[in-house]
Amino acid sequence: MLTQTELKRNAAAAAIEFVLPQLTPSTVLGVGTGSTVDLFIDALAPHKHRFRGAVSSSERSSARMAALGIPVFDLNEIPSMPWYVDGADEVDHELNMIKGGGGALTREKIVASVAERFLCIVDESKLVRVLGKFPLPVEVIPMAREVVARRLAALGGKPALREGYVTDNGCQILDVSGLAIDAPARFEAELNNIPGVVCCGLFAIAGADVVLMSTQQGVRQLT
Ligand code: 5RP
Repeated sequence: MLTQTELKRNAAAAAIEFVLPQLTPSTVLGVGTGSTVDLFIDALAPHKHRFRGAVSSSERSSARMAALGIPVFDLNEIPSMPWYVDGADEVDHELNMIKGGGGALTREKIVASVAERFLCIVDESKLVRVLGKFPLPVEVIPMAREVVARRLAALGGKPALREGYVTDNGCQILDVSGLAIDAPARFEAELNNIPGVVCCGLFAIAGADVVLMSTQQGVRQLT
């Protein structure tokens, strides 16, 4: 029986096999955040001479890549990327995702928006029928925290402040539990419209293009 870390490592290895044939000396990859992505970065480092570098979605991933000698670019310098590679907290069968468990949701959504395609790497525990069991992270401007929390409660959620946590953007996160998100893109648009919301962790208006899901029987590709 493989542990969750071994499953994540297998998903990361499958992602390397997936992107490697597409890398050229001018390729810049978008790289996300989290424990699965940490394993992806470690597996990517030996191939650093085959591509130009990466744009990262967090200080954490930037530091890890820099330590391994992968050049990290500012997004403002990079107009396009073929792939954005990242994990997820939940993914459904339509490839909608909840992300942001690691707090990097806003930069993740920004970097993903510049990439042509999103490659999601997960272990099988992340696959769900309906999104929402994992509390949905919502990044908020600190002075708007309470008004946003009231709006989220009116939408049926139970928002809880992520205590002692400040995002890379100097903002706070409300983790919203008690949701069963049956129309993810519509709900994402609704949350985006609340003044004070910087970004929500629903990736449904633009979901994943390919999911590599690691199972006890091997890695499955969902498209
Ligand atoms: C970080 C994220 C991560 O992709 C998500 O939390 C999954 O993390 P892990 O790979 O550690 O399970 O969205 O903001």
